[in-house]
Amino acid sequence: MSRARDAFSRHLAQTSDAPIGLEITRAEGCWLYCADGRRYLDMVAGIGVSALGHGNPAVLAAIERQARRHLHAMVYGEYVIAAQAEYAARLAETLPPGLGRVYFTNSGAEAIEGALKTARKYTGRTAFAAFDGAYHGDTMAALALMGNAAFRAPFEPLPGPVRRLPFGAAAALGAIDETVAAVVIEPVQAEGGVRIPSREFMRALRERCTRAGALLIFDEVLTGFGRTGRLFALEHYGVAPDLLVLAKALGGGMPLGAFCGSDEILGRLARDPPLGHITTFGGHPVSCAAGHAAFDQIAGARMWERAERSGAALQTKLAALIGREIVAVRGLGLLLGIEFARAERARRFVAEALARGVVINWTLNAERVVRLAPPLIIAPEEIDFAIAAMQAALEASAPGG
Ligand SMILES: Cc1ncc(COP(=O)(O)O)c(C=O)c1O
Repeated sequence: MSRARDAFSRHLAQTSDAPIGLEITRAEGCWLYCADGRRYLDMVAGIGVSALGHGNPAVLAAIERQARRHLHAMVYGEYVIAAQAEYAARLAETLPPGLGRVYFTNSGAEAIEGALKTARKYTGRTAFAAFDGAYHGDTMAALALMGNAAFRAPFEPLPGPVRRLPFGAAAALGAIDETVAAVVIEPVQAEGGVRIPSREFMRALRERCTRAGALLIFDEVLTGFGRTGRLFALEHYGVAPDLLVLAKALGGGMPLGAFCGSDEILGRLARDPPLGHITTFGGHPVSCAAGHAAFDQIAGARMWERAERSGAALQTKLAALIGREIVAVRGLGLLLGIEFARAERARRFVAEALARGVVINWTLNAERVVRLAPPLIIAPEEIDFAIAAMQAALEASAPGG
């Protein structure tokens, strides 16, 4: 056992009894190189983070440049930090109108927390609404929105009240009334089993929130930055939220989250009392510089178009695997779900694919669904490698296989 693996098992707090346990020595493009001498195709991109793959030279150069300029200088918001301000301006010129004011955080869950606090402050209301199957992070309020009771139960009581709505059911939207401060939704549910709501549902949701005076919060932590074949998934539906939450690919591989909204809504957070929502490391200059460099490349090369093409090719090839065990394949762009008939087969499939050099993973709130979210740069021959490995994994995970 290597020293790192020994220390990992003895001293790092574990998040499960069965970690994947790859010991990464280097990563480049879509590949992870490991201490066992093998390389693995990263079909989850660090759960949606590495949109440009690993080791992108422009991102590394931006990190180095900013690191030489300065690291942390002051808590977020007090000094004019060019890396933060310039990235916020770049996002603002790209996002729909009304989302041009950006609050940077360290992570997705923290951005959700900030958005929820903003909604309470702006509306003066207390309740939230969220959807079954939802995942918005693991801090207390983000966890309160979690659409899976098994993950909430050990930590209750959680902040609330939270109204739980069936995902995609327009008929249930009447529960959003004048007591609701905000409704939080992923435009494509990821941990919920890669579920895609209809355009009609998203429009009805927007209308209902406007009528009730509740803020609509889109969690694009995973779906942002080209993942679904659009720069932001909101473009699929033609509706804009009041607050947009970003993270993962936002930082180009560095830790960074953000919530964005209008001057009017975000402005409330800064007053009564001032400094009512602050963070030391949120919007770290190195993270902002890395994210900005990644964003420039994603936007400059219109990477979402490539994601849409590659996603369609991958989906067609996966659809050919539908049979006794795989019952459905769905997705948007390079966020894809493979639904199995049984959870146990899904888990075995993931393990067998890993043994064949391909990293995929199951989803938290839909145990029969395996999720793929490779880097947007994945090449056709890498897709073919993944398909061959998954085909073999399927055969190996069949009863008697
Ligand atoms: C849709 C969504 N929202 C929020 C989060 C939480 O982000 P973080 O892990 O950075 O706190 C995640 C993380 O997986 C996510 O997928």
